[in-house]
Amino acid sequence: MAENKHVILTGDRPTGKLHIGHYVGSLKNRVALQNTGKYDTYIMIADQQALTDNARDPEKIRRSLHEVALDYLAVGIDPKKSTILVQSQIPALSELTMHYLNLVTVSRLKRNPTVKTEIKQKKFGESVPAGFFIYPVSQAADITAFKADTVPVGDDQEPMLEQTREIVRTFNRIYDRDILVEPEGVFPPKGEGRIPGLDGNAKMSKSLGNCIYLSDDEDTIQKKVMSMYTDPTHIKVSDPGHVEGNTVFTYLDIFDPDKEHVAELKEQYQAGGLGDVKIKRYLNDVLQAELKPIRERREQYADNMDYVDQVLKEGSERANKVANQTLKEVRDAIGINYFG
Ligand code: TRP
Repeated sequence: MAENKHVILTGDRPTGKLHIGHYVGSLKNRVALQNTGKYDTYIMIADQQALTDNARDPEKIRRSLHEVALDYLAVGIDPKKSTILVQSQIPALSELTMHYLNLVTVSRLKRNPTVKTEIKQKKFGESVPAGFFIYPVSQAADITAFKADTVPVGDDQEPMLEQTREIVRTFNRIYDRDILVEPEGVFPPKGEGRIPGLDGNAKMSKSLGNCIYLSDDEDTIQKKVMSMYTDPTHIKVSDPGHVEGNTVFTYLDIFDPDKEHVAELKEQYQAGGLGDVKIKRYLNDVLQAELKPIRERREQYADNMDYVDQVLKEGSERANKVANQTLKEVRDAIGINYFG
């Protein structure tokens, strides 16, 4: 492993299959960064983080672990270039989390905006599982264990990076070392990183049932596209329509490489005379072209789950070596290496 290469650590919670929101929000960036060859890339399936609010349904997480692994391979994460690892198989991460928890206050954790929103959405209140409440600290362990300086994620993960940087600074200062590395996020280009749901909701999410999955077949994608939210005031084809807040055009902005054509379609739609069915059919073609090769690769890997398991096992073994080394340095710094 090259010594002074930049290091990427990133990942996803396996609570279901990945959808095109994940794809534009972070997967695309990860594949592009991987392919520059400038990084040691670690991609983590964060099953332990997923268990923090699914402790009573571990079967769901186990199943999703394999779905996410397939999604990764399908979008082009290449085990020859990137290490795909399973969080729960890296024990050093749990111990690092314990050490870092001593450097973080409850009031600081309560201020994390992403976790705050999630606690509200999940209606946890004071009954939030403690493991869920502290997951930003476990995420700091994930990132620092690999001395990652680069974390390609969706915008909602910025608070985790801020928290990680604080822990790194506090640790290095208190123990007067220069061991841990402050990470930077890599976010998608403005306007392209967040895709609304099919229903026009700002967020695509499984619980809202408004997703297109990377594994959806051709017919499913077409049905979903034809059901999309457009412009409620655009009733007759001849009516002038709105493109702002019109989900079909938001998707075209993100997925259609032919920007000039999208600009023309927008003009026609606004002038009146371009129907929703026609524009949806066009979006369907654009999406099918992007998703077909992904789906086909996914199906090939799904026929060979032994290979997928092997990738996860070897990746986790490689990751353990790196994380154990960091843990050793952390123990040395704290001075709890009593027996050498
Ligand atoms: N919190 C991320 C999510 O919600 C998953 C994750 C766990 C992660 N550990 C990480 C992301 C470390 C980046 C770096 O999907």
